[in-house]
Amino acid sequence: MQSNERTEGNLTRRRFIAAGGAGAAGLAIGGWALGRATASSEPTRADLVLRPRPSEVEIGGRRVATWTYDGGLPGPEVRLRQGRPVRIRVDNDLPEPTTVHWHGIRLRENDADGVPGLTQEAIEPGGSYLYEFTPPDAGTFFFHSHAGMQLDRGLYAPLIVEAANETLDYDREAVLVLDDWLDGVRGTPDEQLETLRSEGMAHGMGSPSPAPGEPFGAVGGGRASSGVAMANLALAGGVDAGDVDHPLHLVNGRPPEAPFQVDVRRGERVRLRFVNAAADTIYAVFVEGHELRVTHADGLAVEPVTTDALLMGMAERFDALIEPRGEGGARIIAVPLGKEGRAVANLRLADSRARTPAPDAPVRPPRRLLTHADLTGAEMEEATPRGERRTIDMSLAMDMSEPYLWSIGGQTMEGSDEVQIARDEPVRFVFANRTMMPHPMHLHGHSFRPVRRGEGLAPLKDTILVTPMETVAVDWTADNPGDWALHCHNGYHHEAGMMRHIKVA
Ligand code: C2O
Ligand code: CU
Repeated sequence: MQSNERTEGNLTRRRFIAAGGAGAAGLAIGGWALGRATASSEPTRADLVLRPRPSEVEIGGRRVATWTYDGGLPGPEVRLRQGRPVRIRVDNDLPEPTTVHWHGIRLRENDADGVPGLTQEAIEPGGSYLYEFTPPDAGTFFFHSHAGMQLDRGLYAPLIVEAANETLDYDREAVLVLDDWLDGVRGTPDEQLETLRSEGMAHGMGSPSPAPGEPFGAVGGGRASSGVAMANLALAGGVDAGDVDHPLHLVNGRPPEAPFQVDVRRGERVRLRFVNAAADTIYAVFVEGHELRVTHADGLAVEPVTTDALLMGMAERFDALIEPRGEGGARIIAVPLGKEGRAVANLRLADSRARTPAPDAPVRPPRRLLTHADLTGAEMEEATPRGERRTIDMSLAMDMSEPYLWSIGGQTMEGSDEVQIARDEPVRFVFANRTMMPHPMHLHGHSFRPVRRGEGLAPLKDTILVTPMETVAVDWTADNPGDWALHCHNGYHHEAGMMRHIKVA
């Protein structure tokens, strides 16, 4: 069992802990029974069971029909132990096939990666699948459905892998999962995709957000990175950062009117684990009146760096330490780029009489915005070897044969070639973005390092935001044999062609 002193963030959140190792019974917290009897005659033994199913959830007083894992939004937080095998059974109670992907986990067990048609057959309604894997890295991850538009429903949840030896010093932690929401409020994700497919992008987009008072600056103090430039353009309404107008932005399933609360004490060190689980929204995230000391990107350690705000593309994760200060609470705010509204949670100080500002009260925009370009990788593992590597064109484009079709390396998913890579081959993917949309590009089973001019080791990432008309190259070594997906983590782009098969053999 875990040290709950440290992880008490908010006990109303349900949590699955499976630190016991293979075969050991999982531990349930908050009234959750694991491995309870199922309809199937002999369910496979598992440490945890997840049940995706149609559900009604309450979002700030509204009853909303959607699909969830086990009835909650987000689904239950799963905590694993680094290096310990786990068996998670998924019982599909949805009316459609599904799979679960453990995003960012560099698992060696390819058949547990959850990509339908690539690593497994999708789990039919009423069927089950046993995911067995060992998480090699500690860190902040999440899991989500990899079938159709299911991610843009409620089928996502945080996945925390606890370190075999935690070296970061902190008193408390909180997991904050961001999401853009429309399901059951403004149609369904499938209907949105249909609209985009029949009419193209113009009809899927809402009006741009009002610009904040002042633009963001880069953390490095020098030239603003392309990410910062894009954020400023998006905030000024000059660039589309998404295709779909989501009416709500949530933190841990809660809208600004009923914000998620993080209870803290003044002066302690709080580890915030941010996850962007949105389908179509990039956020600028900050805690009012506080600096963020960023310690991890996409789960893995970076050289700690201080900023006011984080730029988070879809599926990116950042860990940051804060020291609560001031009187009263502070708002944790995520501004959706190029969209209206905001996501809000509250940092609530113990023993304080002052109140946290109202969720819709004006915001003083933060000055410094951090992107991957401001990060330096920690020397936790080999630097990517220099020298010869194969360069592969992975340019990002619209395919003009249909109103809404996206391609990678000149091919859309349907009928595309397998990209064949030899085991341990050093490769470079070049993401030349030939569109006016940002694309968060994600590779399964591996991490990569963005190629940098100049000094410093780039951080390891599994998802990288490629801004409009920008080119980002990433280097990686194909050390994990299997069939892996490479795709844009915009759920709508992904479903509309923006994925390729990478075969490492
Ligand atoms: Cu989080 Cu293939 O995705
Ligand atoms: Cu995209």
